[in-house]
Amino acid sequence: MKFSPYLMKFTIFDRLLMGYIAIMVLVFAQGFYTVWNLRQSHHLIQAIDTVDGTAIRLSERLIEDLFSQFAFGEKYLLSGDADYLNRFETLTEDTLRRMEDLEKLAGPRGPSNVSNVSGLYDRYVTLFHEEAELVRRHAVYSRESHDRRKEIITDGLSGQLKQIIQDFKSLRNEKIATSGQILHKVYNFTFGMAGFIILIGALVSIYNTRSINGPILILKHKTREISEGNFDVRAVVRSPPEIAELDHDFTRMCERLKELEDMKSNFVSHVSHELRTPLTVIKEASSMLLEDIFRNHHRKRHELSSIIHEECDRLIMAVNRILDLSRMEAKMMPFDFTECDVKTLIQKCVSKMSPLMERKNIDVEVRVSETLPFAAMDPHQIEQVMENLLGNALKYTPDNGLISVRGELLEKDPDYMKISVSDNGAGIAGKDLKKIFDKFHRIDNGRGTIRGTGLGLAIVKHIIDSHGGKIWAESIEGKGSTFYFTLPVHSSS
Ligand SMILES: Nc1ncnc2c1ncn2[C@@H]1O[C@H](COP(=O)(O)OP(=O)(O)OP(=O)(O)O)[C@@H](O)[C@H]1O
Ligand SMILES: [Mg+2]
Repeated sequence: MKFSPYLMKFTIFDRLLMGYIAIMVLVFAQGFYTVWNLRQSHHLIQAIDTVDGTAIRLSERLIEDLFSQFAFGEKYLLSGDADYLNRFETLTEDTLRRMEDLEKLAGPRGPSNVSNVSGLYDRYVTLFHEEAELVRRHAVYSRESHDRRKEIITDGLSGQLKQIIQDFKSLRNEKIATSGQILHKVYNFTFGMAGFIILIGALVSIYNTRSINGPILILKHKTREISEGNFDVRAVVRSPPEIAELDHDFTRMCERLKELEDMKSNFVSHVSHELRTPLTVIKEASSMLLEDIFRNHHRKRHELSSIIHEECDRLIMAVNRILDLSRMEAKMMPFDFTECDVKTLIQKCVSKMSPLMERKNIDVEVRVSETLPFAAMDPHQIEQVMENLLGNALKYTPDNGLISVRGELLEKDPDYMKISVSDNGAGIAGKDLKKIFDKFHRIDNGRGTIRGTGLGLAIVKHIIDSHGGKIWAESIEGKGSTFYFTLPVHSSS
């Protein structure tokens, strides 16, 4: 399955939300359609009872009532009994009311002959009243002709009412059929829509799962490759932002691991070089002494002994650095803080190094502010910092160079003092300035002959951090470097 680059911009949350919203909209549309149609069907069923059923019952009742009313009328005409007339009149009122109700129920779209019925009925009642008047006045009239006219009207009325009943029954059947059709439509639509929603849900889930799972699988393979020691990084092709971020961090982790791996192999080669050179020198010098080649040259024998001594010192120093750094990293290095005069400490370190500087004819300039207060520090460790920085300045500055040491209170924050060691030596490229404080990081720019483990500045950084200060370097390649560090005037501990 190919993932569109446009869709890949959306986060996992957005995708899930959009998927659920689409499904919810479909479910809502289906529900709305079903409810709408069921309501229509419900109205139809209600109308069957309240309109058609009532009209049919009303019409049947009218037929019954008309015949009993007409019977009362006939009895009155024969007997002249006013009681029959009263019953006739009462029933007339009831019948007129029922006909009015029937007309309302039929409405403009109902059976058209409803209005004919009341017309016929009016004619019958008028005819009856005319005849009743003749009977009351004992007038002579043709009863037969009256009876015939009444019979025609009565037949018409009963025929019309029967037709009305038939029409309402047809309307009722039509409504039942329409309601059945609606229910059938709803049934089909519900099933179709449910299938469609399940299909859409499945497609959305498959798409989301695959677009999330795919990049995760690639990351899983990458992790396996890393565990097998292959740190070469490969970007995940198109992934949601969260995974792209994870991949970015993962790639950075790979790069860092690769750097560490390189550092490790550099370290092994540096350290083995650092150890092998003095060991070879010691071996050679001691062999010469053992073979007694310079038996009669006291000065030469002394020189050989001093070389062995110096190289032993170098070895001890290299091993001590490695041990110091591991103790500092494990936070097991004890610090012994005491109030100290930094100026004296700096002078002491410079004096210690001056024979080496004289050997390279390097001038040292020390300018430490007179007002520099005493500070709480571990003097032994700060001496180590100064010796490392001065040692580096000496190491990376050619003969006849200049080293200057400065000490003053920080202008911006007088709670701190700033000490700097500058030289006019080889300098450091901008891209290496931050990395030189990493352990084992040495810059190889053709200065292969300069020996070192690449641990000095890493140890210095640990010490300054433990004192609550900061360390950084500024440099112009080929012109020289300046290393700065700050120390709090009042101990933070
Ligand atoms: N004053 C300086 N001028 C130029 N480059 C420097 C200077 N100080 C440090 N560097 C560069 O920084 C790197 C790291 O210095 P660091 O003191 O940690 O190690 P090192 O001097 O090589 O070895 P070590 O100090 O352990 O004997 C050096 O290899 C060097 O390339
Ligand atoms: Mg060094």
